[in-house]
This record gives sequence, structure tokens and C-alpha cells, in this order.
Amino acid sequence: MAGTLVTPAETYRADIGIRGETIAAIGNDLRGAKTIDATGKLVLPGAIDPHVHLEMLQGTAMSSDDFESGTIAAACGGTTTIIDFVEPEMHGSLLAGLEKRRAQADESSVIDYGLHMTIRSGDADTLAQVPEAIRAGCLSFKAYTTYEGFRLDDEALVAALEAVGRAGGIVIVHAENHYSIQRLRQRFAEAGRTGPRWHPRSRPVAAEGEAVERVLSLAEIAECPVYIVHVSTGRGADAVARARGRGQRAYGETCPQYLLLTDAEFDRPGFEGAKFVCSPPLRPADNPPVLWKHLAGGGLSSVGTDHCPFFYETQKILGRDDFTKMPNGLPGIESRLSLLHTFGVALGRLSLNRWVEVCCAAPAQIFGLYPKKGSLTPGADGDIVIFDPAKEVTLSTQVLHEHVDYTPYDGFQLRGWPVMTIVRGKVMVEEGRFVGPRGQGKFLVRN
Ligand code: URP
Ligand code: ZN
Ligand code: ZN
Repeated sequence: MAGTLVTPAETYRADIGIRGETIAAIGNDLRGAKTIDATGKLVLPGAIDPHVHLEMLQGTAMSSDDFESGTIAAACGGTTTIIDFVEPEMHGSLLAGLEKRRAQADESSVIDYGLHMTIRSGDADTLAQVPEAIRAGCLSFKAYTTYEGFRLDDEALVAALEAVGRAGGIVIVHAENHYSIQRLRQRFAEAGRTGPRWHPRSRPVAAEGEAVERVLSLAEIAECPVYIVHVSTGRGADAVARARGRGQRAYGETCPQYLLLTDAEFDRPGFEGAKFVCSPPLRPADNPPVLWKHLAGGGLSSVGTDHCPFFYETQKILGRDDFTKMPNGLPGIESRLSLLHTFGVALGRLSLNRWVEVCCAAPAQIFGLYPKKGSLTPGADGDIVIFDPAKEVTLSTQVLHEHVDYTPYDGFQLRGWPVMTIVRGKVMVEEGRFVGPRGQGKFLVRN
């Protein structure tokens, strides 16, 4: 292949030899039955997106990418593994929830996938199931501090952290202060402030800052590793960085939308701001520079997309008269690697190696997939992205494969795009076209 291999530690020219589904050798002048020329291109471990919501029901709205369309879009953007979620019934069996979710994904996912298990209550029966959920492959457990029907109060959260910590897992947390959000929503409703612009104002920076600090403290007390999803504020990122500095097993994830977009999007005319309604919300412009600083410096560990697409015309519209009724979430599963290359590497905010670390290696390491996934070493799965750092792409729904009628990055000029995605030795995407077999994605047991 003779491309330039990029790993978190090294950048060097070499060939990769693949036998069957696995990387068999890395060296010079390797020969095989089929040769792919990667001259002038970067060769990366397949990217891992640790945070996506495919065909997820939110209220009455189903996120619009299913496991097939969503994983095709992911593969087109250079992502070869996703981690989605199991949402079991309240007080229901975790394994039954896992089985149900796998029935949706097993036949349709075109790339390999893992599942985080959601903990919806801190009762003893639910928490007693944590070890068997880990044995079944769900090493990571999602907890929410807000959202009715999902949120855990501090008592339940501590119990969940203790149970998961004891069992050797990791808790991942959506951290925002529930009560302050409820009060602000109530106050805005009474004042007739129901448009999308009031969404970010109802979930202020301090609501995330407080919750991140609290969750980190509770995880420290419970002696459980913790991963804060979608850190959107400088304040949240500073808190994670401080915890890591104290030696706590704490990790922070941010997302392209928090690095690249701001709450100025809500000044768009009419209902257009609805395209940007996600939780936590987009933030004032003083936040992204702090996120970039921590992403480069190790205070934040990874970038996920939180891909949770809803059609603007038919689904976001559910919140036309009341932003609290709007399905929350943004599309982004396809553009993460290129956005981070363009606005990270090409602008000098991230080294090539750090780019690969935050998009590929670190999610695999944190979530029990490494070195099978996220690494270019003999014995690893043949998950490889050939990335042309000079290819220019202007983002639009025409270019993307995501099943949704808009992209929050419409018109963004990207520098660098994947030209080939290989999953377990099979070419899945070539020059922007999905050419792989359907339904070959495997559930990844992470324990
Ligand atoms: O608005 C968002 N982020 N929707 C997806 C669910 C979540 O909170 O991650
Ligand atoms: Zn969330
Ligand atoms: Zn999410």
C-alpha cells in the first residue's frame, strides 16, 4: 500500500498486509493477491464513534437513521465501529433489552458495533444484573442526570457507580442539572418564550458545570471509572481535566458540534434554529476554544458524534409551538473525521497523531475494544481508512449518506476526506460510494 500510516505515537511510510479479516503484517514491499495503492494518502485505523443513537425513540419521534443507513453513512465517513445504546424497560431485564436491541442491529449494521447499557433506576434488582450485562458484552453503562424516565437522582447514581465499579465496568454520564433546567423551562413557558432560541437559555453553562463536578465527585467516592459524554462547556472540560490531573479515572468526550458551532445559530430567522436543538445545547463562543485546548492537551480524551438525527420538516416541527416538545439531537455520524482534520489538524489545533488518538484509538481503549479495534498492528482487525488529506469537499445533504433532510454543517468547506474504508479486510467504501455487503457488522462483546 505504501501510504503514510498514522497512529497516536507514530507517522511513517509502510505497507499493510491483510489476511482474511486481520492485519497480518506491517512492513516494506509486502506483496499479496490484491494491492491497493495509498501513495500520497494517510492510512489510519478505522475510526470509532463511541456515541450514536440509531433508530432511537425519543417521545414519539424515531431518530431517522436506522442501523443500516446510519452505519453506511458512518463507513462513508471513515468510521468502522460505532457504540450505540440499549434502553431496557424501566425495572426490566437488562439482558432482554440487549436481545431486543441486537435484533434491530445484527441483520442490518454494515460495520461492527458495541452497545452501552442504560441504567434507568438504582434499585437493587437492576443493579444486581450489572455483572451479567458485562459478561454479555456491555462493559459500559449509561446514566442520565436529566430527562424524565431516565434520570437518576444522586442516591441512585451513587448506587449505580458502586455496582458498576465493583463489577469492573465504566459509567458514562449525560451531566446537566435537572432541577434548574425544569425551573427555567417553567419560567419561559409562563412568559410565552417557546421558540427554539429559548432552548439553550434553559440549559445554561452552569447547569452542565455543576453536574459534571458532582458526577466526578460521586464517581471518585464510589471508586468507579467515569466518562462524561458530550462535554459542551469550557467549565465542564476544565472540571474533567482537573479530575484527571488528580489521578482520577475520568474521561471527557466532546463532539464536533460543540467544537465548531455556537449558540449564534439560534439567531437564524423563523424556525431555522430548530436544526440546532440538541442537549446539552450549543454554547456561547468563549467555550469552543477551551474544548480545543483540552482536546489537544489531554483534558478531554475523545470525540464522539452523539449522532441523533431528526428530519427538520417532519420531526423537529413537533416543537413548533413549544421547544420542550422538540426531539433533541443533531446528525453528524459521517463528517466527524473530516471535520476534525479540517478544523483540528489543518488549522494547527491538533497534531495528526492526536487526531487519530481522539477519533480512533482512545475510544477503543476506554471502551474495551483495543487493540483489536483502533490500532494498526498485526493481529488487529483489518479496519482501515485511506484518507486523502488534500481532497476538498463542501458539505451538503447531497454529499452525505445520512438519512435526514439537513446537515448542521451545510456549506462547510472541508480539507481531507476518506477515499476508502475497509472493514475486517473488506472494502466497504470506495471514492464516496458504499460498495460493501449489507449486514456484515458484528456485535462486539466488550468485557
Ligand atoms: O440532544 C441530544 N444529544 N440527543 C441525544 C440524546 C442525548 O442526550 O445524548
Ligand atoms: Zn446525552
Ligand atoms: Zn447521546
